[in-house]
Amino acid sequence: MRLEDVTDIRPGPGQVVVRVKAAGVNPADTYMRSGTYARKPALPYTPGVDGAGVIEAVGENVTLPVSMRVYTSGTLTGSYAEQALCEEFDVHPLPEKLSFSQGAGINVPYATAYRALFQRAHALAGETVLVHGATGGVGIAAVQIARAAGMKVIGTGGTARGRELALQQGATHVFDHGTPDYLDRALAVTGGRGVDIVLEMLANMNLGKDLKVLAAGGRVVVIGSRGRVEIDPRDTMSRDASILGMLLWNTPRHDAISIHSALGAGFENGTLHPVLGKEMPLADAPRAHQAIMQAGAYGKIVLIP
Ligand SMILES: NC(=O)c1ccc[n+]([C@@H]2O[C@H](COP(=O)([O-])OP(=O)(O)OC[C@H]3O[C@@H](n4cnc5c(N)ncnc54)[C@H](OP(=O)(O)O)[C@@H]3O)[C@@H](O)[C@H]2O)c1
Repeated sequence: MRLEDVTDIRPGPGQVVVRVKAAGVNPADTYMRSGTYARKPALPYTPGVDGAGVIEAVGENVTLPVSMRVYTSGTLTGSYAEQALCEEFDVHPLPEKLSFSQGAGINVPYATAYRALFQRAHALAGETVLVHGATGGVGIAAVQIARAAGMKVIGTGGTARGRELALQQGATHVFDHGTPDYLDRALAVTGGRGVDIVLEMLANMNLGKDLKVLAAGGRVVVIGSRGRVEIDPRDTMSRDASILGMLLWNTPRHDAISIHSALGAGFENGTLHPVLGKEMPLADAPRAHQAIMQAGAYGKIVLIP
């Protein structure tokens, strides 16, 4: 990746140009860049889905006003840039209390966490959720959302700093997924009953073990996986358990409207607040792609154009 000067973008009908103040870095951006993802953009391309900034120009039939603070849930031209062209439905109001860098950390993390919990696992207040990987973008969002909705949250993290962060964000117990007995300890805090939901960030490592800590009727949502895994299908039979996959890009339009409406309410009432781990200049995008793939996650990495 390298910086290049390009001509200014003009919006067509139904489109919005956002002056990007911060762009969110997600693991999927690195999979797309390296060509290992199902989505392979035509080259050359500008990476990035998530961003925040102000509306600079609008096309015909757009109802959103110029100068409005917004975050994006998709762009036509890429968010690792000073300007991004978006469809109007991918532009959402950014509350005053959130910075642009926090806004760049909303879409993929929070929409994924919300969809996994409510639209895939049909989570209910009073249930216990294991956020397996609670220190990164999706994990921190999931802890906040689940806690705000009245669930009991158990998290895991690989560093003391990350585990402390997950506790601060609302997890009641956070275990080190690098230790051999951490899932026994997680099971013990449920009194041996098991957890109702697992949000799984690294299924190739954990899916087989997840099934063994589920309560009856439990659900695992596979959010992240970087390889193959062996499971014992009997662990699902004995519990009437479900394994649910998800990919955020599959979200139908009506579900996306529901997600961003719910998130907007959470940002307004202060129960949700993106945690910024690292701000880097846009020119450091290659370094940001290395950083997001390293262990020791701590909230979001964002790029500043
Ligand atoms: N399905 C979808 O639509 C979707 C959407 C968004 C993200 N994802 C995927 O979900 C994963 C997480 O995304 P992210 O944005 O949160 O990434 P991130 O910010 O880089 O965080 C990665 C998380 O995985 C944790 N982790 C590392 N080793 C683990 C282990 N052995 N067991 C459990 N967790 C472990 C990390 O914990 P430590 O660093 O503390 O060890 C950290 O909490 C990525 O693989 C991403 O591609 C999928």
